[in-house]
Amino acid sequence: MVSNDLIKSISYDQQEIINNILKLYNKGQPIHFDPCYNIGGFYRNGVVSDPVLKSDINPQLESVLKLDVRDLPFDASSIKSVIFDPPFIVSGNSKCKMAQRYGSFSSLEELKTFYKDSLISLQRVLKHGGLLIFKFQDFIIGRKQHLILPYIYSVARELNFAVRDLFILLAKNRIGYQKNQNHARKYHCYFLVLKCNKRQGMK
Ligand SMILES: C[S@@+](CC[C@H](N)C(=O)[O-])C[C@H]1O[C@@H](n2cnc3c(N)ncnc32)[C@H](O)[C@@H]1O
Repeated sequence: MVSNDLIKSISYDQQEIINNILKLYNKGQPIHFDPCYNIGGFYRNGVVSDPVLKSDINPQLESVLKLDVRDLPFDASSIKSVIFDPPFIVSGNSKCKMAQRYGSFSSLEELKTFYKDSLISLQRVLKHGGLLIFKFQDFIIGRKQHLILPYIYSVARELNFAVRDLFILLAKNRIGYQKNQNHARKYHCYFLVLKCNKRQGMK
């Protein structure tokens, strides 16, 4: 028999996943900093506590600082935990609603460079042993599908982050209909759990 309290790697509820990550890897403490806050969807209804520090390149709320995650004004090793939910759309289509709402990249290379530069910046401000929760998902460019997990995993390891866990958020519905289907329609995204180790020479 599986106990109801058992923490599982899958859920339909992202707030359950985040609180379970905090329970397992952050001594139950709230998230300290969210650098891609948008409207704070993670903290809807107060199920997940609102972070002390919140920012976005394009703030939607007064309480959110206007900052580029790649160029943070905080002292080195001053942040205990971060949740990072960057844009994930690669599209030249300016009418794409998700791209308008969340931002987008013009190429796969631009997305990869942004993810890597953001990890380097977050590694600088995180304390040694600090928690980084990275939310991301696979995507299609043109007709080609891109599974981005191997890239993020290898960049995180290259930078000396410790990879601690992986949670999968499932969706019951997806917006839009694909007429000519070339790949399995993705009904999931990921929460990768990283712990910050500094690189040689870093404070
Ligand atoms: C996927 S959305 C985050 C959604 C948010 N977690 C929520 O649940 O409401 C990505 C966010 O990253 C922000 N963003 C894009 N480029 C950024 C940058 N260079 N620095 C900081 N935030 C950035 C976008 O403005 C957008 O609000």
